[in-house]
Amino acid sequence: MNNNIDLVIFGARGDLSKRKLFPALFELDRAGLLTDSVRIAGVAREEIDSVAFIEQMHNSLKDGSKEGQWDEATWQRFSRRLNYIKVDFAQKKEFAALKNWVIDKRIVIYYLATPPSLYGSICKHLHDSASVSGTSRIVLEKPIGHNFTSSQTVNDTVAQYFTERNIYRIDHYLGKETVQNLLALRFANRMINSQWDNSCIDHVQITVAETVGIEGRWSYYDKVGQLRDMVQNHLLQLLCMVAMEPPNALQADEIRAEKVKLLRALSPITSVNVTETAVRGQYTAGWIAGTPVVGYMEEEGSDSESSNNETYVALKVMINNWRWAGVPFYLRTGKRLPEKVTQVVITYKDNPHSLFPDTDGEANNRLVINLQPNEGIQLEMVSKKQSLKERLSIEKRTLNLDFFDSSGDSRIPDAYERLFLEVIKGDQWLFVSRDEIEASWNWCDKLLSAWNDRKIGSKSYSAGSWGPSKADMLIENDGRSWYEG
Ligand code: BG6
Repeated sequence: MNNNIDLVIFGARGDLSKRKLFPALFELDRAGLLTDSVRIAGVAREEIDSVAFIEQMHNSLKDGSKEGQWDEATWQRFSRRLNYIKVDFAQKKEFAALKNWVIDKRIVIYYLATPPSLYGSICKHLHDSASVSGTSRIVLEKPIGHNFTSSQTVNDTVAQYFTERNIYRIDHYLGKETVQNLLALRFANRMINSQWDNSCIDHVQITVAETVGIEGRWSYYDKVGQLRDMVQNHLLQLLCMVAMEPPNALQADEIRAEKVKLLRALSPITSVNVTETAVRGQYTAGWIAGTPVVGYMEEEGSDSESSNNETYVALKVMINNWRWAGVPFYLRTGKRLPEKVTQVVITYKDNPHSLFPDTDGEANNRLVINLQPNEGIQLEMVSKKQSLKERLSIEKRTLNLDFFDSSGDSRIPDAYERLFLEVIKGDQWLFVSRDEIEASWNWCDKLLSAWNDRKIGSKSYSAGSWGPSKADMLIENDGRSWYEG
């Protein structure tokens, strides 16, 4: 299956590698999904040798394993794949060591888990040290730029050395099983896809709420904000999965072309409509799960008196195409919200004429897709109350499809496991194309300019609340409300 792969992870001693990348590879090995011929090199600047690197990896994976579930046999196999190569990414001559490790005629995958500012020089040095061939693949973490123009610069730079076919841009949300399940739900179920448009759907809500704050990343995050950190990528990708047209086939080119079309159909938010369609917020001190937490400005690393930066965004997005004309998509995402939840809620329209006045004014049908946690799908429906005393009175019932139970697996794999598998297979269907990146930046840039031009600041909200009250007004002004489950 995945014969003759050399996987090179730049930034092998960083946080992402430790928390996500190596544990994902270990799990793939445990599941028997890495053939013996897959070799893995961790690359970083630190002066340590392979023995020390492997020992640290052992401790870190073991510490991260569930109590009593350490799998020594997998570790023995996994550790034999591992090597460490010390490379100062700025020094071309240091890439020679990497070149020596890579074996000719094998497919090499370079995974850049480094700051994006290093992408250009790493690609160049790989190329100049003759480590790139027509089959080499490169994997890039987000962010790809901080606006349209800078994303073009990053893409142009990487394109000098790798063809688009060999570039894998990560949006880890696409690696989540439940996000892929949106494709199955929409396109394998006639019952669902025949009702998936403005004739049946009233509105859609997409919520990505987090309880964490900015996790020690103040100086980075203060230049980025929630729109760039979460909306430009994860929320717009979710929106694409929910709203794109059916692709002709489940091939990367087909799926990605549909996503680009959708992104290009998003109605721009500009200085003309920004006040009624977008809200930005910033958390102040509050409580999360019974524990006091500081506000954004008091977070560790904060070095200014005030900041306009947003830790919360709520948007009303319209899509200018036949399927979705008139259907608002309400998006919200924020840090320090009361729960960690990623959820898509589809609210269906009322019946054209009501025989059951009891239900007037309330949506009878709602499809709630929980992407995390409690992965699953609920369909809210109305049925008759079982009672001889009443003639025909009705009640809301919920059909539950628990993704976890139906998966047949004892665990839901981490997004990075799936993404590694797809890169190894050479399938780009869960990776973001250049056109998608540029279309989404193009749309976000307009909103960022509108905030800037109109001097719109972030409204404060207490940590542990659901965001600023203006975000409630954004949806309530349309006679709707945020779904509360
Ligand atoms: C990352 C963002 O891309 O996604 C983080 O940079 C955010 O700020 C994280 O916390 C959320 O990912 P998940 O998988 O925990 O929902």
